[in-house]
Amino acid sequence: MTDPLAALRALVPESTQALTAYRVPASPPPVKLDANESPWPLPDAARTRLASALAQIDLHRYPDGRAQNVRDGLARKLGGAPDDFVLGCGSDEVIAMLMTACSAPRPGETQARVLFPTPTFVMYGITSRALGLQPVEVPLTDAFDLDEPALMRAFEAERPNLAFYASPNNPTGNRFDDGVLERLVQAFPDTLHIVDEAYGPFASRSLYSWCDRYPQVGLLGTLSKIGVAAARVGWVRLHPQLAAEVEKVRQPFNLNALGQVTAELALGELAATLDEQVAAIVAERARLVSGLREDPRLHVYPSEANFVLVRVTGDSQALADDLLARGVAVRSFQKYGGRLAGHLRITVGTPAENQALLAALGASR
Ligand SMILES: Cc1ncc(COP(=O)(O)O)c(C=O)c1O
Repeated sequence: MTDPLAALRALVPESTQALTAYRVPASPPPVKLDANESPWPLPDAARTRLASALAQIDLHRYPDGRAQNVRDGLARKLGGAPDDFVLGCGSDEVIAMLMTACSAPRPGETQARVLFPTPTFVMYGITSRALGLQPVEVPLTDAFDLDEPALMRAFEAERPNLAFYASPNNPTGNRFDDGVLERLVQAFPDTLHIVDEAYGPFASRSLYSWCDRYPQVGLLGTLSKIGVAAARVGWVRLHPQLAAEVEKVRQPFNLNALGQVTAELALGELAATLDEQVAAIVAERARLVSGLREDPRLHVYPSEANFVLVRVTGDSQALADDLLARGVAVRSFQKYGGRLAGHLRITVGTPAENQALLAALGASR
């Protein structure tokens, strides 16, 4: 007799079976510095405004499938036209839509390829494998910057359909060299180059204007890092002809009505409040970095994001476990091995949370 479960599991491609599902701990510790969220809740007045807007939603109806108000808000805040944007349930979903839409193998090939420098955001690799595209990983230099000759060679040999550059990069925290990036964009115009600025609001510069210069460039963004992670709203800005293609693979009602209303306010009426919180995180990042630099066990990398990467002399996993036992969660990369082994990623918290982290670090020595 056939075992139906074995038969059904065999329908899942081996490349998917080899993946590990993304899990987050169920009960957060008192000081949560492991997920690159904003540490600041919305102020009371903003919550009241949001509550009254949410109360107006017709919950018995489907949401606006085009999320027109969110598109309009993005176009007003960032520039571009409403039709230049493709919206997703977080930029995670946008990444998947880009890969789904741009999945035609090049002539003579059997699989489309997706290039990205590593180490970087894990979802580029997970999603390309899950969707049957072939990831092409090009190691960053020792300084975690783009390796121009290696990238040029990889582009020539692999001819990727898509390339993803998180700048600032997660988990290294640095922005990539814009000159190298621009040379790649110019040298390989038949690849869709996606600059992921999830952490752009915390950085010194943005490449957003490249959308107007290069049809082969898309800019990915999200509300998740600036205080609205729960709403799950992300986007890509593309040339409108490409946006129209990607729109074809978007699920009709992928942004729910509560997320849409929240995003509309976050991009409009509440934008100044969120901008102030971002500025507070940037200021606090400098204080956190100087506090961490006092610890002789830590090498602290420069950061343009809302987190800081540190290399630990000694057992980094033991240090992360010790901090957790003291109520502070940070992100350890020990289990992934490779170049990130021995590193911790620490999200910038409130002044009190950062103080708690530094106190826990002191107590762990
Ligand atoms: C570089 C980068 N891009 C995209 C995302 C996805 O963010 P979201 O799906 O919350 O918009 C993350 C989340 O950590 C990230 O680090």
